[in-house]
Amino acid sequence: MSIEKPLLKTLVDKEPNKRVPVWLMRQAGRYLPEYREVRQNFKNFLEFCFTPEAAALVTIQPLKRFDLDAAIIFSDILTIPHALGVKVDFKQGEGPHLEKVDTEERINQLELVKLKDLEKVFTALKIVRKELDTNYPDKTLIGFAGSPWTIACYMVQGVSDQKFNKVVNFAKEAPEVFQKLIDKIVETTIFYLKEQIKSGAEVIKLFDSWAGVLPENEYRRWVIEPNRKIIQKVKEEFKEIKVIGFPRNSGKLYSEYAVNTGVDCISISDDVSLAWAKDNIKDKVIQGNFNNLLLATSKKDIKQEVEKIMRVTYDHPHIFNLNHGVVPETPIENIHELIENIRNFRL
Ligand code: CP3
Repeated sequence: MSIEKPLLKTLVDKEPNKRVPVWLMRQAGRYLPEYREVRQNFKNFLEFCFTPEAAALVTIQPLKRFDLDAAIIFSDILTIPHALGVKVDFKQGEGPHLEKVDTEERINQLELVKLKDLEKVFTALKIVRKELDTNYPDKTLIGFAGSPWTIACYMVQGVSDQKFNKVVNFAKEAPEVFQKLIDKIVETTIFYLKEQIKSGAEVIKLFDSWAGVLPENEYRRWVIEPNRKIIQKVKEEFKEIKVIGFPRNSGKLYSEYAVNTGVDCISISDDVSLAWAKDNIKDKVIQGNFNNLLLATSKKDIKQEVEKIMRVTYDHPHIFNLNHGVVPETPIENIHELIENIRNFRL
């Protein structure tokens, strides 16, 4: 590496870094006026994701404002169901709506019919990587995909749900059929991530937002195993690639996930503390876990909370991030406050 990239360095060294790298989930999003400006040109959210120049533009936007260490490609995890021929629709203020895939017959029909749209994501990555190499040489480019369990949750249930009971029951009652769906997503995701790496992604993140709804045994089969398979296949071809896993709300199972999936870094929500993570997740970088709602509401408590996190993590490899994405109500000045306090922190 001719120019040192702090985030990549932490992932490679797996040692505490004096420059603690920071980026934020959903750092490109509705809290930014310049994002809303671009967003209004598209009625359809996926069409926005599949317009490379627009996606590249909003990917870079947060770097222009804030001293962040990474850009995450602007896209969505639901590009994969879409590419598999499933109708995906984002209704204003309602979250995603998908055509339900809840029969064996429909699962058997899934095929990569919209490869052309995924190629738009690869094009966006190439544009962003070029821009970073030229103007932001110390920033790391993160590619991503949803993990199979979480993607399957949306495909089977069709809409967001706090518990995804219908999907948990489907997996329990027809595990061989559900396995077919998971296998299809695994296979597509391996391809998708490899192409993202070829297009310039230096780190890959796997979002398993609904990992936390599964009981322990099911967690092993539907969370750990598919993520392990994906990471193994991707690293077989790209030995140097670094992987961040985010099995949100896993509780004590974070440590089992960390040991068994092959991730380099585990991103934690705030269902566990960083002190717990440090004691229970060895030899991995830990990412997290400043509360996103605190970031949205209280400028005055930010300093105190940053200091608390920095004190706990100073002797462990750490990437500063949130427990979950930046919410649209977040004042921009709060993000400045957050980053300033991270940069100015001294033990
Ligand atoms: O983090 C980033 O800045 C990169 C872009 C990114 C988006 N979605 C853009 C987006 C990433 C990494 C995602 C991942 C994603 N998408 C997840 C996993 C992380 C998590 O939040 O748990 C999930 C579950 C989705 C599915 C999804 N996409 C939902 C449930 C929604 C609706 C909720 C909402 O905030 O509106 C989306 C839409 C979405 N994806 C938006 C953005 C910026 C907002 C859409 C808009 O601008 O109108």
